[in-house]
Amino acid sequence: MVRAARKVTSGEVPAKAEAAEPVVAPPMPAKPVPSSAKKKAPEPVRRSLGTIITVAVTSLACFVFGGLLSSPLLMGLGVLIWFTLMSPFMAAWASIGAVTGIATLGTARFMFPNVLVEPPSKFKVGPASDYPLNTVSNKWKDLFGIWIVHTDQYEGKNLIYALSAVCTHLGCTPNWLDGEQKFKCPCHGSGFYITGVNFEGPAPRPLERVGLRIAEDGLLEVDKSLKFQEEMGQWTDPASCVDVV
Ligand code: FES
Repeated sequence: MVRAARKVTSGEVPAKAEAAEPVVAPPMPAKPVPSSAKKKAPEPVRRSLGTIITVAVTSLACFVFGGLLSSPLLMGLGVLIWFTLMSPFMAAWASIGAVTGIATLGTARFMFPNVLVEPPSKFKVGPASDYPLNTVSNKWKDLFGIWIVHTDQYEGKNLIYALSAVCTHLGCTPNWLDGEQKFKCPCHGSGFYITGVNFEGPAPRPLERVGLRIAEDGLLEVDKSLKFQEEMGQWTDPASCVDVV
């Protein structure tokens, strides 16, 4: 050691340092490529909004009509179209659209409530000459729920009036029995004379009259918005009947 120090001091280079080779780094190993990256990922299928709507509507239509027509084939076709042509993304959007559409239709339906179309309360029933004395006409019973009666048996007056075809017991529709000259209720057996006055069964009061008058054109006109009850003394009202002279 002392000798080497002397050599350095004297300017001599050690023999070992003269023989040293430059160090060369080994080449880097190749970076392994993941197997998944080697395969090219398939391009996602892109469809336009129009295609999505068409597919959704077609499959839903097949499914719904298949259900209505009880056709499993058509329903199966709808399911097949849906799952074959719809990607999950499309299916999600189509489902959202379908739910939104149904909710919108339900709301729109709510805005238009059911309308019950009833026959008018005022209507013409022809001239008085169409109704002979002591007859009951069933002509308007089914459509308007009234009989036109022409009789002289109520207080001896020759009258035409319109009787309501509603039993005063529980609201059934009686029948006019021409042979027995009475109205008979099929529900609990109430009976009414041609005048409308009750005489048998549980009905507590006579049938009701509705409004009747001779219109400007000479025809009889019924007004069902007007009601006249015998027990209330309303059959004396001129609007409840037509005097035949
Ligand atoms: S409803 Fe007519 S007798 Fe009962």
